[in-house]
Amino acid sequence: MKKIFPNDFLWGASTSAYQVEGAWNEDGKGPSVQDVKDIPEGTTDFKVAADHYHRYEEDVRLFKELGLKAYRFSISWSRVMPDGVINQEGINFYKRLIGLLIENDIQPIATVFHFDLPVYIAEKGGWENRETIKAFADYCQVLFDNFGQDVPLWQTINEQNVMALAGSIIGTSNKSMKEKFQENHHMLVAQALVTKNYHNGNYGGKIGPAPNIASVYPASDKPEDQMAALYMSALRNWLFLDVAVFGKYNHNAWHLLEKIGAAPTFNEGDQQILAEGTCDYIAFNYYNTMTVSSYFDKEQKIDQQSGFGIPGFFQTVENTNLPMTEFGWPIDPEGFRFTLNEIYSRYRLPLLVTENGIGASEQLEDGKVHDDYRIDYLQKHIQQMELAIEDGVEMLGYCPWSAIDLISTHEGIKKRYGFIYVNRTDEELFDLARYKKDSFYWYQKVIAKNGLED
Ligand code: BG6
Repeated sequence: MKKIFPNDFLWGASTSAYQVEGAWNEDGKGPSVQDVKDIPEGTTDFKVAADHYHRYEEDVRLFKELGLKAYRFSISWSRVMPDGVINQEGINFYKRLIGLLIENDIQPIATVFHFDLPVYIAEKGGWENRETIKAFADYCQVLFDNFGQDVPLWQTINEQNVMALAGSIIGTSNKSMKEKFQENHHMLVAQALVTKNYHNGNYGGKIGPAPNIASVYPASDKPEDQMAALYMSALRNWLFLDVAVFGKYNHNAWHLLEKIGAAPTFNEGDQQILAEGTCDYIAFNYYNTMTVSSYFDKEQKIDQQSGFGIPGFFQTVENTNLPMTEFGWPIDPEGFRFTLNEIYSRYRLPLLVTENGIGASEQLEDGKVHDDYRIDYLQKHIQQMELAIEDGVEMLGYCPWSAIDLISTHEGIKKRYGFIYVNRTDEELFDLARYKKDSFYWYQKVIAKNGLED
């Protein structure tokens, strides 16, 4: 077998707090925007989720059996600081979880904020209100004080770009572009401030952003389609990474925002904070690429993966070369290699993939789930990641979505992603028992062999 992956490569898997934990109002937890949003018909709410809050010991045992070297999870802001004051029981939960992971030689990777703003912050204007920057920095300081020594890899904000560009879909925001990009600016400043504070604390680990990055293909070889791809990528990808890595807005993204009247207002001192709080590595989520053309002639359906359009700049078109998942997301493993290379050649920082996976509706049959499509999907993406490493891309690890079944952002638990099946549906909780899917045994082998078989 070829040796592609370094010995300390982090084979992991991911979840997020509100999608997996449940216990939405227990032990002092306050509500987050995800607990109070309108739930699409026919899908479950997030109150019980996969009940990980009560079953984390069993789950970590399963992660150990799977062989995970790392587990990427998020911390619930409204569990730790439900109303701006520390909730010790919330801290204790994450202490127990992190302690157990370490005991089992699974490296904890923590995301500080994954779509679940506390309601009391949202009621004060959420990210549109500059005070949220300070509230976020205070919350992160509590996390660094409590877990800074035990968690070596931190991520500030999950998919900030998706919140800015498709917030109405995932239930985080439903505002005009101008308002959204002002909120977004505050998030960028908050991220930089927290990054700077983390560095000043000398905790010894690394901190970075976790956007959803997708390379953008031009629909044809027409020069105007190249320009359309350049602009979509600037707005969707590089705006977020240029600020995180260089401390500066991307010039094309800034131009586009100005043109559509959505350029944010800077307060005095913002530019300095952005410049002082740059990241150590890049975590990112990859599901698929985008394809765009320069024309804009019809209303575009918005989805966090299938794209959107900006009149005069680009419109998303279907890429007929790519197969689709059951839920209508393109499958593009080669695009993964391309995206890895594109990010690395722009920024030259180590990369950690924090999400990648396929959502599918699944049934338990005699205690088993035959998810060969998931094995096929992950295998092809890992093959392309090998090629990217051979290309020279520096990688820290790969954490597919998701470690265990959880509730999708807006399509319920009927859209499953996990290596471990959770026995519930959108309508019924059943016994929430855990079952290992076929992909569990497959990934277990990949990890044990530190890569795919030849
Ligand atoms: C990312 C998010 O957008 O993709 C996750 O970080 C999400 O929270 C995942 O679950 C898959 O998306 P969805 O909409 O299928 O749940």
